[in-house]
Amino acid sequence: MIDEPDLAFEVIPADPCALLGQWLDHAREQSAQPNWNVIYLATVDGHGRPSVRPVLQKYYDATTGRITFFTNYHSRKSHDIEACPMVSAAMHWDHLERVVRVDGTVEKATEDVSDRYFATRSRESQLGAWASEQSADLPDWETLLERVFEASARFAGGPVPRPPHWGGYVLTPQSIEFWAGRESRIHERVLYVKDDGRWVSRRLYP
Ligand SMILES: Cc1cc2nc3c(=O)[nH]c(=O)nc-3n(C[C@H](O)[C@H](O)[C@H](O)COP(=O)(O)O)c2cc1C
Repeated sequence: MIDEPDLAFEVIPADPCALLGQWLDHAREQSAQPNWNVIYLATVDGHGRPSVRPVLQKYYDATTGRITFFTNYHSRKSHDIEACPMVSAAMHWDHLERVVRVDGTVEKATEDVSDRYFATRSRESQLGAWASEQSADLPDWETLLERVFEASARFAGGPVPRPPHWGGYVLTPQSIEFWAGRESRIHERVLYVKDDGRWVSRRLYP
């Protein structure tokens, strides 16, 4: 059990974006979880078929609640997002007994944001972004290694530019739900929904 009166819901905080910021800070500082910033991102394709995968949340804006992650724009998730920009993202910190679910819409990050983030990645990761046709069929492992080698030769001696098919997405929340584990399974859930530009909260049964 986490003893943090300021983050319990005796009084429901007015602003879920600030609260999520506090939970993320706490997860980074307290959680033994290496990927404390992982989000399980669920998308649906044009036929309504869902799929989910972990991605890393790289930027969080505690004022707007916007979450930025990066990926290949030709991947399965990106095709899904093109067909349906509505997504659902779950975060789970097992050690902290906390879950957050964010539902909302995604749009591409600006080229500038994608360029700046790409420049912070290791050279190996940058070359990998050129080499991988994420989610496409790979005939054999050697093909991938060859593609990494080709990318390495192509950009030898200079910086690796961001591939045009790689960049960020920004998730703007329409609802944010907080779940906090409590004694005897009397867990707490608080759901915030954006209504006419304002956040409205209510408790849910666990
Ligand atoms: C901890 C973890 C973090 C990951 N982070 C990312 C990420 O930030 N971006 C990404 O494209 N894939 C990431 N992946 C790989 C994805 O889970 C997934 O395999 C890939 O994006 C292809 O998904 P898709 O075919 O559904 O588009 C991560 C995997 C793990 C295990």
